[in-house]
Amino acid sequence: MKDLLRTADLSRADVELLLTTAADFAANPLRSNTALANKGVAIYMTKPSTRTRLASETAVAHLGGTPIFIRGDELQLGRGETIADTARIISGYCDALIIRTFAQSDVDELGANATVPVINGLTDDDHPTQLLADWVTIRENFGADIASRKFVYLGDGNNMAHAWLTMGAIMGAHVVAATPAGAWVPDATVVAQAKAIAATTGATIEVTNDPETAAKDASVLYTDVWMSMGDPEAERIEKTKALSPFKVSQQLMDLTAKDSIFMHCLPAHREEEVSTSVIDGPKSVIWRQAFHRRTTIQALLYHLTRGELQGR
Ligand code: CP
Ligand code: NVA
Repeated sequence: MKDLLRTADLSRADVELLLTTAADFAANPLRSNTALANKGVAIYMTKPSTRTRLASETAVAHLGGTPIFIRGDELQLGRGETIADTARIISGYCDALIIRTFAQSDVDELGANATVPVINGLTDDDHPTQLLADWVTIRENFGADIASRKFVYLGDGNNMAHAWLTMGAIMGAHVVAATPAGAWVPDATVVAQAKAIAATTGATIEVTNDPETAAKDASVLYTDVWMSMGDPEAERIEKTKALSPFKVSQQLMDLTAKDSIFMHCLPAHREEEVSTSVIDGPKSVIWRQAFHRRTTIQALLYHLTRGELQGR
């Protein structure tokens, strides 16, 4: 496996390796501080980022490498140079590329033309590095035995919903995506792929439009912003109305299992997708999740650049 272009690229064994290494990096951030010595990692983003950017830059630094951050408007790509040519050029200078942008197809094209690892740092369709941080956090809270647990995402059927279902399928988990019906359901192709993976791992994939049934006895309630980067502003009023029953309120949280946790990839909008009392309350693990963005990207860079991931 050369690249991490989408969550579905990862095998269960890859995820297990990455989670173990990330836990090592959490305990000892400088354990492999010469792994990327004298090497550069390009981080190219055409959308804003707080966590993914800082986690990526610090992860590279902890591995002894040099992060090179490039904003969307700074490459000749914006003036007509092709993605393929850009991929070849970056491969000549850098040992990996982390990319955040809109179209998944652009990330796929970079991966196909770069000779160095390309990592998806979020597209409109997927957010694989986030899910690695989420699953380290899930492990820290519940351990590896998740047989009787239900992992529920509530909200927009967006990139996070897709990544949630896909990683849950890989991990053999009972995962649920509860979204409004109609325009904001997860993509049917992603759900079908998650079900196909689930058939090989023993996972259960559930897609519903009922937030209360979804929340009942859940071990995790996870949510994300209702308006993602790039979503048309014209949809805001209608979308907010459709999503309002999916707000993670204290009442929804009260339906969950006794030892349940609240998760959010952040950034959050308090009193929009989640009540302040929930996100800032005792069940919230958001800061630990955010912390693990660095440990997991560090693990991913470490193993991908050494050619140690197999892929699915
Ligand atoms: N969760 C996440 O990807 O955050 P940023 O958009 O700040 O990178
Ligand atoms: N769905 C959100 C996730 C942000 C980390 C977005 O794409 O903006």
